[in-house]
Amino acid sequence: MSAVLPVLATRLSAAAEAAFGTPYDPELRAATKPEFGHYQSNLALRIGNALKQSPREVAARLIENLQVDDLCEKPSIAGPGFINLTLLPSTLAKAVNEPESFTRKGQRVVVDYSQPNVAKQMHVGHLRSTVIGDALCNVLTYVGYDVIRQNHVGDWGTQYGMMIEQLLEEDGTAESLDLEGLQHLYERSRKHFDADGTFADKARLRVVELQSGDPETLASWQHMVDVSLDDFEKVYALLGSNLARQDVVGESAYNDDLPQIVAELNHQGLLTESDGAMCAFLPGFLGRDGSPLPVIVRKSDGGFGYSATDLAAIRHRITTLHADRIVYVVDHRQALHFDMIFTLARTAGWLPEAVPAEHVEFGTVLGPNGKPFKTRAGGTVKLVELLDSAVARADSLLEGRDGVDRTATARAVGIGAVKYADLSSDRGNDYVFDLDRMVAMTGNTGPYLQYAHARLTRLLSKAEASTEVAELKDPAEQRLALLLTGFAATVAQVAETLQPHRLCTYLYDVASALSTFYEQCPVLGSEGTTRASRIALCTATRTVLQDGLGLLGIEAPDAM
Ligand code: ARG
Repeated sequence: MSAVLPVLATRLSAAAEAAFGTPYDPELRAATKPEFGHYQSNLALRIGNALKQSPREVAARLIENLQVDDLCEKPSIAGPGFINLTLLPSTLAKAVNEPESFTRKGQRVVVDYSQPNVAKQMHVGHLRSTVIGDALCNVLTYVGYDVIRQNHVGDWGTQYGMMIEQLLEEDGTAESLDLEGLQHLYERSRKHFDADGTFADKARLRVVELQSGDPETLASWQHMVDVSLDDFEKVYALLGSNLARQDVVGESAYNDDLPQIVAELNHQGLLTESDGAMCAFLPGFLGRDGSPLPVIVRKSDGGFGYSATDLAAIRHRITTLHADRIVYVVDHRQALHFDMIFTLARTAGWLPEAVPAEHVEFGTVLGPNGKPFKTRAGGTVKLVELLDSAVARADSLLEGRDGVDRTATARAVGIGAVKYADLSSDRGNDYVFDLDRMVAMTGNTGPYLQYAHARLTRLLSKAEASTEVAELKDPAEQRLALLLTGFAATVAQVAETLQPHRLCTYLYDVASALSTFYEQCPVLGSEGTTRASRIALCTATRTVLQDGLGLLGIEAPDAM
């Protein structure tokens, strides 16, 4: 599919230059109603306003200078001076038949996502980061970026000193613990740490041992990391995530760089000592009470904080990974953290102005009561259990369907439903985790799109192959074709804005137009060129649905 819109926009801009001496942005958009044709522009209204001339007269002069008769029907003027363009059926057909092209070749983007914490279960927040991150990586790859995934797992800090010290006191070994055991160990050591000052001191010393590489301490820690990563990988496999072990570059990876980070910031005069901690105070960052907010790079106990690690990570991403763009998929509560870190990194000269750093923030997953999703006992909901229940729900929907690989399809539909629900609303918003709504076969859901794809697959299995859209007579097939030509532009827009819901909305529009097309235009029931052309249109639609779902990280089963 190639896009016609940019071509028309350029022509309209050229017409404005020829008639009025300036190449305005025509702001050409999809028409709001079918009777306005395919595209509309308010250019004449804007020029009329600027030059104090009648917009309808301006529109007439623009049209005189507009050369589009190779692509469109005669342009028309509507209402106060809108210019309406209607593509020739042959233009639409050609656009559907042509391949698209993208321009991001050779640019490198680093995407920091998923980022679960060692010795803890992954929770729904990590689900969002993983699902959104995977989709964005797919989209960025598709438009030509060289994508580097970085799973910034939380695998470093005081808690490992606590846990290892607790184990020593209990005469336990790290080797005997699974993730659940680790989580309990964490809870015991936390209590102990808070209640017993002597233990707390020992735990702190243990952190120093860990940071300086004491072999036994390091071995216990490594075991905790390995157990956790094995567990995360099970979740990734169930989700069909692209994240691999080699993408894990956890907080610990930056340990050796941290003293250097603090020393350099200090050397640049960017640090102030405050209650024993080393802090950067950046202009414009104030707390609610108006007092300056610190970025704490070294805590008063001498340990390095989350911020120091993120600064080291930025430096690594620029100097070693050669990023042209850096993306962080992390919940919205960390917005201020990233704002401050990016500002500090730019001030220190570690993050060049030419490299955008973007915090792809997302909202909270809510339970049925509208509060952040928790178990009845108030604990975090285990991600695996949630996904398993989605698959079970999808499985019950498939009851009695013939010719369907039940296990694989239930998995594709259940997981797809959860992912689609997460991706389809504006990521900044919170959403309620409602399995019934997620797996519904109607409305803007994953299963609805998967079903549209499966239905097309079945239809095409009964048809002879045809790949050339030749004629588009019916308005319903024209509308479908017009939508298909927007695929590349939509994907490019998602790569720019990092908002996957735009692709979801687009695919939903395609599936809806497809269902109108089915009602108005017989495919297997028609003959000759009409039949061949409609089969080709169905084939192109199937490709768009399949590719679009694929970019979202959602499987498209052939039958369901
Ligand atoms: N592990 C952190 C959490 O669970 C998220 C890390 C985000 N990435 C980063 N580079 N800071 O909240």
